Amino acid sequence: MQLLIGNGVLTPEHTFFDYGCGLGDDVRFLRSIGYDAHGWDPAHRPDAARCGAAVVNLGYVLNVIERPAERAAALRWAFDLTERCLCVAVLVGSAAYSGEAQSYGDGLLTSRQTFQKYYHQEEAGRYLEEVLGVAPIPLEAGVFLIFRQSADAHAFLLNRIQRSVPLIHGVARERKRVLRTALMETFQTEYAEEWAAYADFVATRARPPAGGEINALRVAAEHGLAPADLWQAASGALPQEQLAEQRRRRTNQYLAFMAICRFRGVPRLRDLPVTSRLDIRYYFRSYSHLKQLSDDHLFAAGDAERVARLCETAPAGVNTTDGYFIARRDLPSLDPTLQIYARLGELFSGDLDRVDVIKIHKTSPRLSLFSLSDVRETLPRLRSRVKIDLQSQQVRFFDHSTNAEPELLIGKQLLGFDEGSTDARAVSLGRRLLMQDEPFGLIVRERTVRTRTWAASAGRSA
Ligand SMILES: C[S@@+](CC[C@H](N)C(=O)[O-])C[C@H]1O[C@@H](n2cnc3c(N)ncnc32)[C@H](O)[C@@H]1O
Repeated sequence: MQLLIGNGVLTPEHTFFDYGCGLGDDVRFLRSIGYDAHGWDPAHRPDAARCGAAVVNLGYVLNVIERPAERAAALRWAFDLTERCLCVAVLVGSAAYSGEAQSYGDGLLTSRQTFQKYYHQEEAGRYLEEVLGVAPIPLEAGVFLIFRQSADAHAFLLNRIQRSVPLIHGVARERKRVLRTALMETFQTEYAEEWAAYADFVATRARPPAGGEINALRVAAEHGLAPADLWQAASGALPQEQLAEQRRRRTNQYLAFMAICRFRGVPRLRDLPVTSRLDIRYYFRSYSHLKQLSDDHLFAAGDAERVARLCETAPAGVNTTDGYFIARRDLPSLDPTLQIYARLGELFSGDLDRVDVIKIHKTSPRLSLFSLSDVRETLPRLRSRVKIDLQSQQVRFFDHSTNAEPELLIGKQLLGFDEGSTDARAVSLGRRLLMQDEPFGLIVRERTVRTRTWAASAGRSA
């Protein structure tokens, strides 16, 4: 539920239906915060009506159904009730199969003699597409969205890419300065809200808004100001290099979006949100030009030598013998080809927002996505890892939070995680460890850190 709300898929404007709701806890919770929510469950709420809703949830239901035909029927039922978006959650993981559990049908019987089918991420995605005929969008391990309209799916994907690029540091401050420019004083004072919205638009999209896109243009026109006056005042007050950088980031977002669309089906221009259409016209002149450029980068992303070269010359991140590590938040600084390469991870595994560090493997078409406990720690602990084989599109999730021996990120300073590490010794330890462990990469076992630390200090005192 949190995922749906956090990703903007479920808002109070949407009706919600929980198909296979169990005891109905989620429905009760949503109602308590003002949502129009309902649910049905064959065991716990058999008499409730199965009604249509904008957002339908099918949470951990497919896992428990033994018969494949009944499983597919439940999925179709849930989709039939869906007006806008269906969210399907299944248990993923292969570890369960290696334990004591006994296999049964295409799943297994747990120690409590209940049926469970565990999926692999790509297997679940393929299954949903096979049964529903629509390509699902992975949200995270085992959680998928299936939009009824492809326009909504594309709007979601675009929004996901765009929200991960923050405003460039300092632009917000500059915007305040814009407010003080003499030229627009009256308008800015009397219509401060409209002006702030205009300046915000320019700072984030790095282009002039079109008529109708933003209310300030209408109000300004009523006071004898032309669109060009507003644009000049707002863009002129921003440092030009920051405006150019923001434009570059926006451009790269669309290139990455289009590359992802090559795997899922390219939308018609008219199916994209109006603001995106205007962005595309401004940044690329035409939709076909955007598609052409994106294809060029996608093609380049398939060239291992080229990718390795781009890694070696990247402005951020760390190269080790077999890989290139970059903090997720530094992705926008990369060449579009590398960004597209990393974004393919999102296409196959889910949201990159939860990832702290990305590793591009240089010797094979693979990506590893690392989530850390807290990057403020001197040696942050590895919480989870996703391994993606881009060729076979195989995705594996690993939970490291319960490992008896933690794995640690060394040399975090080299990835720009400097917060909290005022301790100069910790910084230099990180650097030394990194030099020593270079063949192994940046994520190492605690034991290795201990022996290497010892070796490092022994080396220093020798
Ligand atoms: C693991 S529980 C999940 C409950 C709830 N969705 C959640 O996420 O907490 C699985 C539920 O699926 C329901 N279920 C079993 N077969 C079903 C079917 N054919 N259609 C819909 N729900 C079914 C069960 O009654 C059970 O409540």
